[in-house]
Amino acid sequence: MRTEEIIQAEKKYILQTYGRPEFVLERGNGVYLFDTEGNRYLDFVSGLAVNALGYGDYDVVRAIEEQVGMLMHVSNLYHTMPSVKLAELLVENSFSNRIFFCNSGTESWEAALKFCRKWGNTKFEIPKNRLLAFNNSFHGRTYGSISTTGQPKYHKGFEPLLPGIDFADFNDIDSVMNKITDETCAILVEPIQAEGGIHVASNEFLRKLRDICDEREMLLVFDEIQVGCGRTGPLWAHEEYEIYPDIMTVAKALGGGLPIGVTLMRQHVADAIEAGDHAATFGANPVACAAAVAVLQKLLNPEFINEIKEKGNYFIERLETLKQRFPTQISEIRGRGLILGAVTKKPASDFLTLFRDRDILIATAGENVVRFLPPLVVERSRIDEVVDVFDEILRQGH
Ligand SMILES: Cc1ncc(COP(=O)(O)O)c(C=O)c1O
Repeated sequence: MRTEEIIQAEKKYILQTYGRPEFVLERGNGVYLFDTEGNRYLDFVSGLAVNALGYGDYDVVRAIEEQVGMLMHVSNLYHTMPSVKLAELLVENSFSNRIFFCNSGTESWEAALKFCRKWGNTKFEIPKNRLLAFNNSFHGRTYGSISTTGQPKYHKGFEPLLPGIDFADFNDIDSVMNKITDETCAILVEPIQAEGGIHVASNEFLRKLRDICDEREMLLVFDEIQVGCGRTGPLWAHEEYEIYPDIMTVAKALGGGLPIGVTLMRQHVADAIEAGDHAATFGANPVACAAAVAVLQKLLNPEFINEIKEKGNYFIERLETLKQRFPTQISEIRGRGLILGAVTKKPASDFLTLFRDRDILIATAGENVVRFLPPLVVERSRIDEVVDVFDEILRQGH
């Protein structure tokens, strides 16, 4: 099929829930993507925080190839090794004691919501099952996820949503205290609200949430689907805060490009869950788990992790300089590690096109945040390239 035919067929056959630019991506190598016309793009989107190791990482590809040839799927009715290896790596390198496997971010979030309610409904004489989420959050597109997402645009037309959910303001403890009831069983939070515009939780805020959860016997749940797996520097974003949850959801980058979702939990949560309470046919898929083991082994190298932070700090410094030079066009630089946002005066989508015209792919986060999510293997020279292009775009008055 020719490029134009593919684009026309996409419009004809695929439900139009996405607006896509007019090119067709064909292959990737390192931090670059190539389209069917032979154009090369520097990728600062990483498949929306998925391709942490870029495209074609040798070890990930080899792990997938080996597993595909051996065993692709048997369901959770049987033992397989890759999921056990991955679970062991995750438990040994996190706060958690137990793992539930599924296939995407939203699925891991749904599992977390069910586990919170099962815990709250069974642990107390008077059941607790209300959930406290945050305004401006994002947790995915299935019903539990949109119901706990604090952005009305994701609810519109899909009502009625799940009952028993309250919303407080992010980084505002008074608002949290006002919304907690005797029936609240869990506080659900992204350490960095990514889709909502890259808002970083303050240390004090997360510390207080932990304290409140301990005092009032509630679970603290972190959504690290976008910011986990080294994206902010440490393996898990919350490690930098030294504040640990009872449940955490992880997906995106973990599978190295294959779909996987994981709900990690402490033993006291696991104790509330019985055989048959939750399931996923494809969960713990051997190929996805083998890929995730290869990804995690790379991320567990302390040198690799240190470099993410250093490169992130360098990127932030360079963006801050741009902000100082163009204060009327950029009002703020947000983020940590290699999830960074520039708050722009003009609509962020304008910048998407301006960068794309210069063969660079970037993302947005809300109306006015230009979002940079390079592969974690990105070199400083590529960061320079992107900032220099941003500089040129801003100099032209955008
Ligand atoms: C914080 C967060 N939670 C949940 C999700 C949903 O993940 P998925 O698209 O894999 O269902 C996303 C996706 O962007 C996310 O950023």
